[in-house]
Amino acid sequence: MKILAIETSCDDTCIALLKAQGKAKPYFKILSNIVSSQVKIHAKYGGVYPTLAKREHQKNLPLVLKRALNKTKDPKADLVAITVGPGLDPCLWVGVNFAKELAQKLNLPIVPVNHIEAHIYANWLSPIGKPQIFPAVCLIVSGGHTQLILMRGHRKYKILGETRDDAAGECFDKIARILGLGYPGGPIVAAQAAKLKTINYKLQTKLPRPMIYQKNYDFSFSGLKTAVLYNFKSEPERIRKSKKYIQAMCAEAQQAIIDVLIKKTIQAAEDYNAKTIILGGGVAANEELRKQFKEKIEKELPKTKYLIPDTKFCTDNAAMIAVTGYFNRQKKRSWKKIKANANLKIGEKI
Ligand code: KG4
Ligand code: ZN
Repeated sequence: MKILAIETSCDDTCIALLKAQGKAKPYFKILSNIVSSQVKIHAKYGGVYPTLAKREHQKNLPLVLKRALNKTKDPKADLVAITVGPGLDPCLWVGVNFAKELAQKLNLPIVPVNHIEAHIYANWLSPIGKPQIFPAVCLIVSGGHTQLILMRGHRKYKILGETRDDAAGECFDKIARILGLGYPGGPIVAAQAAKLKTINYKLQTKLPRPMIYQKNYDFSFSGLKTAVLYNFKSEPERIRKSKKYIQAMCAEAQQAIIDVLIKKTIQAAEDYNAKTIILGGGVAANEELRKQFKEKIEKELPKTKYLIPDTKFCTDNAAMIAVTGYFNRQKKRSWKKIKANANLKIGEKI
């Protein structure tokens, strides 16, 4: 079965063609996976500007489709998968309408896909082996979401906790903006942090680890960003513009975010006897986070399996939408019945 998937929930225009093989144990071949990033356009604003993103998607979609189909000799698909939410409403609708037109023209059914669920299923793009995976505790950390989700089986979810204000990726982005580093903040902050040699410089402050000792699975990152802002403003220009200060601040902010994410996820995995800890979302591309999670799980929960997508499948892409479409193929329906829902929750009926 071949699935043509489209993703436009935020600022990346993505189309993929995925081939699913095998029955009992499916495995996947990515025939094409095009991500057309709008980063340069949004960098000026330090964040995504929805009406501009919508216009770019409109412009890009036909070109991205052409590129995706040109990558393979036999581009004929059996199914269209489309992200219907959550995300930016105008952006979602562009993708949904494009998918509907395509499905009508090619006479194909559509499977509506939840973007958060797709960040989880990105893990199935690589072979997983045969272990017992469920129950799993999933941490989804992206620019728009930070959620801990209990997954009792395929498509069986319960949200355990989520951020009460900013998402983890949003926190990276805002801190980068405060420090004058550009957009998107995550990779830039990570690169600065990696340059730090502690022997060279020690930050005079320790940033807060918000809600780390609270007995729930919720997060809060807006105070962390404010703490960075106050410290930045309190330093004389000579210090705060220095390479060493920027590097030290990036390292400390990144560590504060990692500490909270690891602590809460390990706690949830213990409380729910998770067989697997699953990560996903743009922030899961962070090398330091990937490494520290691995070390902590090996030390504290050695029997728990750790699943994290290949870095390129952590940030938004359509291959993850295709694989989710495959696992939800029983939900396929006519293009007439598909609509976007910007506030869609995981597990909610679509
Ligand atoms: O999943 P994603 O591509 O889009 C959303 O669904 O939001 O996530 C984008 C977010 C951005 O906030 C970006 O700064 C962050 O993921 N991000 C990272 C890294 N790469 C992307 N954060 C930390 N470290 C990274 N290496
Ligand atoms: Zn995403």
